[in-house]
Amino acid sequence: MAAYYVTTPIYYVNDAPHIGHAYTTTAGDVLTRWRRQRGEKVWYLTGVDEHGTKVQRAADAGGVTPQEWVDRLVDQAWRPVLETIDAANDDFIRTTETRHREGVRRFWERVRENGYVYEADYEGPYCVGCEEFKLPGDVITGEGGEQLCPVHGRPVEMLSETNYFFKLSAFTDALIAHYEANPTAVEPVSAYNEVMSFLKAGLVDISMSRSSVSWGIGLPWDDKQVVYVWFDALLNYATAVGYGADPDSPEGAMFANTWPADVHLVGKDILRFHAVYWPAMLLAAGVELPRKVFAHGWLLVGGEKMSKTRLTGISPEQITDHFGADAFRYYFMSAINFGQDGSFSWEDMSARYTAELANGLGNLASRCTAMVQRYREGSLPAPGESTDAEKSLQQMLVSVSEKADAAMCALDFSTGIGHIRSFVDAVNLYVTESEPWVLAKDEANAQRLDTVLYTIAESLRAIAVLYHPVMPTTMRSLWQQLGADRMLGPIGEASVVDAARWGQLPAGAPVTKGDALFPRLEDPDA
Ligand code: MSP
Repeated sequence: MAAYYVTTPIYYVNDAPHIGHAYTTTAGDVLTRWRRQRGEKVWYLTGVDEHGTKVQRAADAGGVTPQEWVDRLVDQAWRPVLETIDAANDDFIRTTETRHREGVRRFWERVRENGYVYEADYEGPYCVGCEEFKLPGDVITGEGGEQLCPVHGRPVEMLSETNYFFKLSAFTDALIAHYEANPTAVEPVSAYNEVMSFLKAGLVDISMSRSSVSWGIGLPWDDKQVVYVWFDALLNYATAVGYGADPDSPEGAMFANTWPADVHLVGKDILRFHAVYWPAMLLAAGVELPRKVFAHGWLLVGGEKMSKTRLTGISPEQITDHFGADAFRYYFMSAINFGQDGSFSWEDMSARYTAELANGLGNLASRCTAMVQRYREGSLPAPGESTDAEKSLQQMLVSVSEKADAAMCALDFSTGIGHIRSFVDAVNLYVTESEPWVLAKDEANAQRLDTVLYTIAESLRAIAVLYHPVMPTTMRSLWQQLGADRMLGPIGEASVVDAARWGQLPAGAPVTKGDALFPRLEDPDA
């Protein structure tokens, strides 16, 4: 079975991660956990981009070699952040690894053999922040007349050197035809339109090597130059799954089963690299094109892209230490429409945590387990006959889970989560209206109380499964409190497409009241 293959950008290790980086990785993690719980085979890759001028300068400033610099930051910051946000990636690639270096050299050798590489002089404005030669329309003029990068707000540097060029211009028509035939290969629509208009203006050749940079992968045919950092980095998606390996080796089989990527997740700032340069490179080497590039928006601070350069980066731990990893994942995936920009604010996050998680879901779970303990000694009762109230909840669950599945598969996480949340709200309303605490006062209502308790617990069973890709730790804990791990097995193996089938949690399930799923938080400023 071919794997559903999802990638994040590989992050520059010039500095430690901020929540903008964690945002993309979280989205990929929610998507791949959802797909895994649909029973699909999945491969989820993330990693780091270690070469180039930006990293070299950071190492110089830190007084260490680039290799020492990247080794330290990867161990102390970039691998740990995956734990901080509870990412279940299958692999982590570093561009300094041998598997990558060899694959990159093989790839460019092939492109050169195919006639798409030539030597030439180049002079132009370069932004080290972007690691990119800027085209005439890409720079803005500052107050003093200087040329600035619009992404980093910093002056560009004029570079002039002799290096090797990639014949990007040869692929204009092929890429236009590809995207016309595959209109969902770049999403959202705004990104698709941006790529199409860039292509329709015509592509110009672009340098693929650097003679003035030493920290990189040497060209196979000229060891005085290194591969331009982007044309090294993009290849990680292929080298990590075995590009260039002997087809009969395990790595070769991996490539056959995994490539092409199903989704490259990227921030909108690096769309052109992924939707224009990368597929052109693949066409030049005769490799199949990825199925989709999805460009999400930026996390903004004061209306501008959050970044270390602008000194507006917030580290993921600052948030997870207070709210927990699951609330971090829930908040960023539900409060911001994936594909659009969004602003983070501590107040908004606190308000949603309290309303939707602590009061909404957490309260429902603790009421349920407390009542089964109190009224039925912790053993889930068998339900009696369903009334309209139960039937309509069951029907709602069917439609909610179908809509959530469609939205999550379409990377519309906020809509998907919104559907699940609407079911949580409906169950809370059901509890209020059916008043189990009143039923419990009269033995004559025993069977009705059984039905109500069962309905709440079984609804929570479905909610735990549907929310597990978003909030793996708390939903595992809810699953245990419902006794579902003992009766139904591990939650990670519970199918999201089967979640709405009513009656899975058997009577007699041992229900226990555990710790609050979402404890009430102290005000950090109090
Ligand atoms: N190394 C390149 C990518 C190479 S991929 C072959 C790079 N690295 S980066 O560290 O600067 O940023 C990578 C990604 O981090 C962005 O595309 C985006 O996914 C994420 N983000 C960085 N800042 C962000 C925000 N402020 N908001 C949302 N995402 C952001 O570019």
